[in-house]
Amino acid sequence: MIANVLIVLIFLLNCSLVWAEPPEINNKGCRDCHRFSSKETKLKQGPDLFYTGDKFHRNWLEKFLESPIVIRKVIYAPGSEYPEGKPEASQPHLALTKSESARISDFLMTLRLPGLEKDKIDEEPLSKDKRVRLKILFERNFGCTSCHETLNLVGKVRGGVSGPSLVDAGKRLKPDWIFNWLRTPTKFLSKGRMPVFNFDEETVMLITKYILTIRTKQ
Ligand code: HEC
Ligand code: HEC
Repeated sequence: MIANVLIVLIFLLNCSLVWAEPPEINNKGCRDCHRFSSKETKLKQGPDLFYTGDKFHRNWLEKFLESPIVIRKVIYAPGSEYPEGKPEASQPHLALTKSESARISDFLMTLRLPGLEKDKIDEEPLSKDKRVRLKILFERNFGCTSCHETLNLVGKVRGGVSGPSLVDAGKRLKPDWIFNWLRTPTKFLSKGRMPVFNFDEETVMLITKYILTIRTKQ
């Protein structure tokens, strides 16, 4: 009986260790630059993290926090304003040690938004024909490339930089998150800088699949 109680206690303690917020979140000033709750009304200078668990693949997140790369070449600007000047992000993101990064990633992956649509993207690859048609829609009709980097036919990076790069977006972003972002961006930001397209569900599924094909070889 006592042994059982002990096992339950140890189990609960373990859970709370995973779910508890690691001290580095405060010590390293993550909150100065990121919102950790949708209830915070003031926009911060870095992207929102209160839906990290919905948005990122865990292995990408852990690697990013350990050795950050530039995702938004024109510095991140919250809200609906476009930044002026500053063609490259001016400061590298702070880097964490391997163990800090693992602990913080565990915690960040628990942050989720309720009410997102799930299991929207099947594994079926796009046919060559469909991919070609989607490429035209993506680049010419919708003009996604005017704000986002993508790859051209010979694998060279091209496109605008006022939005985050979509090169290798599939390694970074979860397919369902891309779907939700394109379908109802206002679930994440009441007013963002990306135009709201009001795509129907089918179109969003196809564009999401297309984005997942923008991959470098390695
Ligand atoms: C001085 C401000 C600042 C601090 C402090 C800071 N960040 Fe950031 N963070 C940013 C900016 C700006 C970006 C966007 C970088 C880019 O897009 O290239 C970013 C990007 C990120 C991203 C990727 C988000 C996305 O949507 O692409 C994660 C995850 C992240 N930060 C986590 C953290 C954590 C965890 C901490 C604390 C250990 C932290 N940040 C501290 C400013 C900051
Ligand atoms: C006028 C510029 C602009 C156009 C055109 C545009 N976007 Fe965006 N997009 C942005 C910005 C800026 C963001 C970053 C979020 C924000 O600040 O609102 C973004 C974010 C995204 C994201 C999330 C990326 C991340 O890492 O957070 C995806 C996916 C995306 N856009 C896809 C598209 C697709 C697909 C199209 C075409 C149908 C498109 N965008 C057209 C500016 C644009």
